[in-house]
Amino acid sequence: MVLKTVNSSTRSPATAMQGLPTVGIIGGGQLGRMMAMAAHTLGLGVVILDPTPGSPAAQVVHRSIVAPFNSLQDLRRLAGATDLLTVENEWVESQLLFQLEAEGVRVHPGAQTLALIQDKYCQREHLKAAGVPVPRFQAVASCPEAEACAREWGFPVVLKARLQGYDGRGVKIVYSVTELRQGWLELGNHPLLIEAYVPFEREVAVMVARSTTGESCIYPVVETHQHNQVCHSVTAPAELSSTMRDQCAALALRSVECFDGVGIYGVEIFLGANGEAIVNELAPRPHNSGHYTIEACFTNQFEQHLRAILGLPLGRPDLQVPAAVMVNILASADQEALNPSLDAVLAIEGVKLHWYGKRSARTGRKLGHLTAVAAERTTALERALRARAALDV
Ligand SMILES: Nc1ncnc2c1ncn2[C@@H]1O[C@H](COP(=O)(O)OP(=O)(O)OP(=O)(O)O)[C@@H](O)[C@H]1O
Ligand SMILES: [Mg+2]
Repeated sequence: MVLKTVNSSTRSPATAMQGLPTVGIIGGGQLGRMMAMAAHTLGLGVVILDPTPGSPAAQVVHRSIVAPFNSLQDLRRLAGATDLLTVENEWVESQLLFQLEAEGVRVHPGAQTLALIQDKYCQREHLKAAGVPVPRFQAVASCPEAEACAREWGFPVVLKARLQGYDGRGVKIVYSVTELRQGWLELGNHPLLIEAYVPFEREVAVMVARSTTGESCIYPVVETHQHNQVCHSVTAPAELSSTMRDQCAALALRSVECFDGVGIYGVEIFLGANGEAIVNELAPRPHNSGHYTIEACFTNQFEQHLRAILGLPLGRPDLQVPAAVMVNILASADQEALNPSLDAVLAIEGVKLHWYGKRSARTGRKLGHLTAVAAERTTALERALRARAALDV
């Protein structure tokens, strides 16, 4: 493949250090912001593409392109100003990435990987075909078809939008035909994925990085805590037997290896009462369950992603502290302006605060996160919760 060469005059000054590459990030949310910050640490340049002016990531870079994700012309502009492209969400149409790849642009994860993963049904099919345990599932084109599945499998069942779901938006757990019909309408009255409800005991997640050189590494297994299908907190490491830990790590690696792409992946796993592990989903990018790595691991997930896509040596993923708890800062109400006070929260020992630079909030929106580290999980949790309570948002 002919790699794209960049005319350095198209780069903004003061982005990359001399001789180091510039990365184009499709998406300007918090994941792009933290990826950009990690890129600065390594001396890399970054250009962000996002439709919203002043997006969280655009606030921390020298150059950004304000444009829709799905404009080929603007994606070409991004590619022309950078050495390679990556994503911080799965919303770009994979057809456009196929086109860019055909034009010689390096994209990680690649178009094929993104195409398979961004559609929850295709992702499930692919994992199942590779022998990875997943919940029972089916694509359904109409509400009666979904009802027939639910009657056969028994309630509850889970309805999921195939594309563009995040933070539980696009997921409905339904307990009756009435709820299913309601859920079908709420999810837009178009083809969905339906799956059997997994009566899991716990949810865990694992970050896995794989480099263009073939090198890979696995982060510690962490426990995630969801309320109403939204992640509220993450505990690292998960309290598991070494056998279960190894089983989850191996399952995460196997799941990632059945896709071609390089970079970092988040793998979400359901754990049953008898220790059975089932993969819920993969994300081909840094993941909320990996934010704890910024304070707690030798190499954080954002830097690792950049190392992986650039073919640089991967850094050690291991924990540098006995325990860490990450708590998402979700807006408790709609707010026109945010005026948080830092004093109380920063006075708490072992706590780091990350704001994403969002100017206003809708209820439930992720505004930032807190990570507390400590000698034991219980202390880390207590600190993280105290810190969250100290924030008036
Ligand atoms: N089949 C299932 N059985 C039981 N619970 C489920 C099932 N599928 C999803 N859930 C619950 O809903 C949550 C969100 O589902 P899922 O991960 O598919 O959606 P998402 O919106 O892509 O999530 P996110 O973007 O936050 O990772 C899961 O973490 C889990 O708690
Ligand atoms: Mg999920």
